Amino acid sequence: MADDSEQTREDPARLSLSGVPETMLWPLWNRAAEMRRQDRLIEDPMAAGLVARITYDFAGRFGRPSVFHPIRARVSDDLIRAFLLRQPHKASVVVLGEGLETQFWRLGAPDVTWSSVDLPEAIAVRQRLLPHHPAVHHVACSALDPAWMDAVPAVPAPFISAAGLLMYFQDEEVRTLLARIATRFPGGEIFFDTITPPISRRTQRGWQITRHYTAPPMPWGIAIDALPGFVGAIPGIELLSVQSYADPFPQRTRLYSLLSRIGPLRRRFAGGLVHLRIKDAPGNRAG
Ligand SMILES: C[S@@+](CC[C@H](N)C(=O)[O-])C[C@H]1O[C@@H](n2cnc3c(N)ncnc32)[C@H](O)[C@@H]1O
Repeated sequence: MADDSEQTREDPARLSLSGVPETMLWPLWNRAAEMRRQDRLIEDPMAAGLVARITYDFAGRFGRPSVFHPIRARVSDDLIRAFLLRQPHKASVVVLGEGLETQFWRLGAPDVTWSSVDLPEAIAVRQRLLPHHPAVHHVACSALDPAWMDAVPAVPAPFISAAGLLMYFQDEEVRTLLARIATRFPGGEIFFDTITPPISRRTQRGWQITRHYTAPPMPWGIAIDALPGFVGAIPGIELLSVQSYADPFPQRTRLYSLLSRIGPLRRRFAGGLVHLRIKDAPGNRAG
């Protein structure tokens, strides 16, 4: 069987990803499809260009496009934009599990230090397919390995985004990661999204998205109303907001929005979009 480098020689846009790294193509597909809509939530021509270039059966694997990834992208774009406006000096953004996210360019290639942390095979794909930009630094490292924290600036306090990542970890790994971030990056902000326990269980039984694609197991699920308690138990972190995927753009998620107002359904099915602040207390400084 051809290894990745042999395939690359034949066709640089043919990818041989599987398991969790392959999931980076799923939000890319949905962001690219959003570009075909009049009422789009994001402007992401680069995502559309990548989908056109990459040799991969996007429609066969992921099926009909969904709005959920564009919602997550738009919510995190807005949070990062607002964060950058509050920074008096050149800011720092750290993206964990960035995959083929094109957020830096959606935000207009801002004058920031942008650190993209992902597994080595995912970073190799980014470097192969995305344009080089001097502001964007790649860190080929698991988010669970604290080594990435030494490879990104701690000052000024960064915005740390982990979209579509934490559900692939165990509960204890998520707690440890957030606690370490809180210790190392006082004054920073964090964004991440969540799935619920029933959805997590479904992925662990083998959630077939289409005939040709089964999502990898996502062990960490949490009900949206359990998030304040979960976050509150991590020292040094303050919850700024939790909303469900159905909340920010109800005109695009009509049925899901209606159902997510019913308490028991919201607890069972509503994924969360979470924004945190890391306290800047002296007792919370790096150890
Ligand atoms: C669902 S994709 C999300 C990609 C991107 N955030 C987006 O929204 O388009 C999950 C990403 O997490 C990365 N990932 C999985 N496990 C990781 C880990 N332990 N450390 C860092 N990244 C990881 C995968 O390689 C992949 O790029």
